[in-house]
Amino acid sequence: ATLFEQLGGKDAVDLAVDKFYDRVLNDERINRFFVNVDMAKQRRHQKAFLTYVFGGSEGYDGRSLRNAHKRLVEEMGLQSEHFDAVIEDLVLTLQEIGVPDELIGRVGEIANTTETKKEVLNQ
Ligand code: HEM
Repeated sequence: ATLFEQLGGKDAVDLAVDKFYDRVLNDERINRFFVNVDMAKQRRHQKAFLTYVFGGSEGYDGRSLRNAHKRLVEEMGLQSEHFDAVIEDLVLTLQEIGVPDELIGRVGEIANTTETKKEVLNQ
């Protein structure tokens, strides 16, 4: 089974998107990055983000992670601590909805890597 399926499929992922979204927008360490982004885009971000971290992004044809975050790095000071805060919010969300630690570990292996971090931070 794919990680997506093991996490509980579409219903579980939709729930995770809503919870993750609430958590990020209420997190004072990072919510400023989302202030001037329209709601549809914010939601797309959470969905694209989670699809990626659940290993389901093969078909994704949007901007690269590097391009998607370039403006945030250059004009808003996006850096390492913000990336770590997003990962922390993700882990807390998955714990909140009852995802087993073993699966959360696998999500981290995909999202919380040096390569992904470098891409997002345009390094
Ligand atoms: C945009 C994924 C980390 C804030 C995007 C997009 C993707 C994405 C796929 C493009 C969405 C689209 O154009 O439809 C990811 C992944 C991350 C990550 C996989 C880490 C593993 C972060 C962090 C922040 C952030 C750390 C800020 C704290 C944003 C914002 C946008 C965006 C504000 C919209 C930018 C714009 O429209 O100009 N992200 N992201 N992301 N991301 Fe992330």
